[in-house]
Amino acid sequence: MTVQYPRGNVFYRNLHHSFPIITHGEGAYLYDTSGNRYLDASGGAAVVNIGHGTKEIAAAVSSQAQKAGYINGTQFSHVPVETLAKIISDFLPFPDGKVYFLTSGSEAVEASIKLARQYWVERGQPSKHHVIARKPSYHGNTLAALSLSDRRQYKDIYGPMLMKTSMVPAPYCYRCFCGEVYPSCGIKCAFELEKQIQVIGKENVSAFLTEVIGGGSTGAAVPPPEYFSAIRKICDQNEILLIVDEIMTGIGRTGDWLACHHFDLKPDIIVMGKGLASGYIPLSAVAVPREIVDTIYRKNQSFMHAQTFAHHPVGCAAGIATLDYIKNNNLLKKCNTVGTLLKDTLSSLSSNSDVGDIRGKGLLVGIEFVQDKVAKKPFPREFGYTEKFVANALKKGLVVWPNVGHADGINGDLILLAPPFIIEQEEVSLINRVLSETLEEMQKLR
Ligand SMILES: Cc1ncc(COP(=O)(O)O)c(C=O)c1O
Repeated sequence: MTVQYPRGNVFYRNLHHSFPIITHGEGAYLYDTSGNRYLDASGGAAVVNIGHGTKEIAAAVSSQAQKAGYINGTQFSHVPVETLAKIISDFLPFPDGKVYFLTSGSEAVEASIKLARQYWVERGQPSKHHVIARKPSYHGNTLAALSLSDRRQYKDIYGPMLMKTSMVPAPYCYRCFCGEVYPSCGIKCAFELEKQIQVIGKENVSAFLTEVIGGGSTGAAVPPPEYFSAIRKICDQNEILLIVDEIMTGIGRTGDWLACHHFDLKPDIIVMGKGLASGYIPLSAVAVPREIVDTIYRKNQSFMHAQTFAHHPVGCAAGIATLDYIKNNNLLKKCNTVGTLLKDTLSSLSSNSDVGDIRGKGLLVGIEFVQDKVAKKPFPREFGYTEKFVANALKKGLVVWPNVGHADGINGDLILLAPPFIIEQEEVSLINRVLSETLEEMQKLR
């Protein structure tokens, strides 16, 4: 059974799509009302890090809901929020970190740039407000997060409502927007940040917002190893806070608790979301070193930000259970070993003429499709390569995550794989087989 607008009363996210109705999930699989089984090779939107239907998380959610389903974070604290903040602080790249919990990634991004702004105001530098981000990038769909995202298809309509930001090229070496080749480039993309700061004036810039390993926007592009040490230095020299968006890459997705650990990077603000409660409940977080909170505290202030569902007890209980589950089942190690197996297995797809690049880290893998491999020429957007690919894979029972427009703002086709860390050889083979069959079908469609 599928549903499609205008049937039912749901305002569907896609008004031109038939939605199978899912009844339940188990491990890496989802099941629908027609008895179809889907391998969730993208964990939804790179959310379901530990798999579907995990009893331990359901039990933790139920238990907390029975004790107290809601406790207001302005009036009280509670055991789940204290416990989860402590667990997270143990894997932050700075000692004695402080963690502020919200519900979505976009909210966490908005809170992070507000916090950066307040920090500079309390430090007596009130002109610092401008945020620099990167392109390609994605940080969310609320107005400020969207302003900081390089997503033309989402931004066009809302242009007059968006805030002023600036963007520097992301380290997307497959398609370098500086027109260079690594390593002879000398990581020019990092030094574009320095130039941009000079244009705006460091006295006006509060923060640089960046993904660590690319998410959907660059299809899991991994930056050169020296990129973040250059970025950290530029931020320090110009008194600019470095905000890293680990909403997709955090909580083990790239094989460590945070992707910044791979680069020995110490950011000033870290935002997390998605896998933090593995999607069992919406949960996101903003984590900062103590010094940032101390600055606000010394001025006799608090963070000028409030949301009804901040520090939600059931969300935090789900977060604790998720992180415990990852630890108890050694899933960080699993993510690394299966991630390597997945990439090794998929490498056979590289010989297909549509496959331009396969990249990623841990269980975050991007496959970029091109019309011309040598010239890296993208398919014309009108052809809808990604949309057709994703629909065909779904018919074969494989869920993959689409992204378009990264090549030049309009064209560009890629899929992202971000399966639960519990997948085994059987699922890796299934992913490879369906992708290979789908690629063959795509050749026939032209
Ligand atoms: C890197 C990154 N940041 C922020 C967001 C926004 O998160 P949310 O959709 O939960 O608001 C996303 C969502 O895909 C993301 O991938």
